[in-house]
Amino acid sequence: MFRIAVMVSGNGTNLQTIINKIEEGYLKKAKIVVVISSNKKAYALQRAEKYGIPIEIKNRKDFDSMEEYDDALQKITNIYKVDFIVLAGFLSLLGEGLLDKYYNKIINIHPSLIPSFCGQGFYGIIPHRTAIEYGAKITGATVHFVWKEYDSGPIILQKSVEIMENDTPETLQERVMEEAEWQLLPKSNKTIYGRQT
Ligand code: GRF
Repeated sequence: MFRIAVMVSGNGTNLQTIINKIEEGYLKKAKIVVVISSNKKAYALQRAEKYGIPIEIKNRKDFDSMEEYDDALQKITNIYKVDFIVLAGFLSLLGEGLLDKYYNKIINIHPSLIPSFCGQGFYGIIPHRTAIEYGAKITGATVHFVWKEYDSGPIILQKSVEIMENDTPETLQERVMEEAEWQLLPKSNKTIYGRQT
């Protein structure tokens, strides 16, 4: 059994797809043992509580240094005996301790085709707005292993989404989620458990 921590900051639709795919039996070897949020108001926390999943709130701003923040996150992963970490809309960088301990056992979903429209500052609506402003015809989503820099690390899966003439950043964001993100994240989890068990 893969004991997963899902880290979130917002709505938690990607968390919800993992919960659903575990319930449906698509992800057979997985259990979400804790949801960690950087934001105590994240709706993702309500989703977790509905399924009886323990929640923890850890905001980088509440810690004096990255080391202390890193220690606090490592403590949680020890308590819940976490095997694998999924960043599903989590907005902070992780510390070196956690990254070393979970080398290639942390994945992230990003709403663009990396290496386009990614890196520091490219979160939320920004990758979509930038893609439209640039005049790109295709965008999408990427799931990748998490290395030290923002949106770095080997790519696991990508899926493209066409940008329409009349797209706004909001309509594009919604389509990227529906057509790419919600499929890619469970599929990547499955790919990885297959590889590592
Ligand atoms: C998603 O677009 C994800 O790709 C990005 O943050 C957003 C999180 O959405 N990293 P949600 O909280 O899963 O609904």
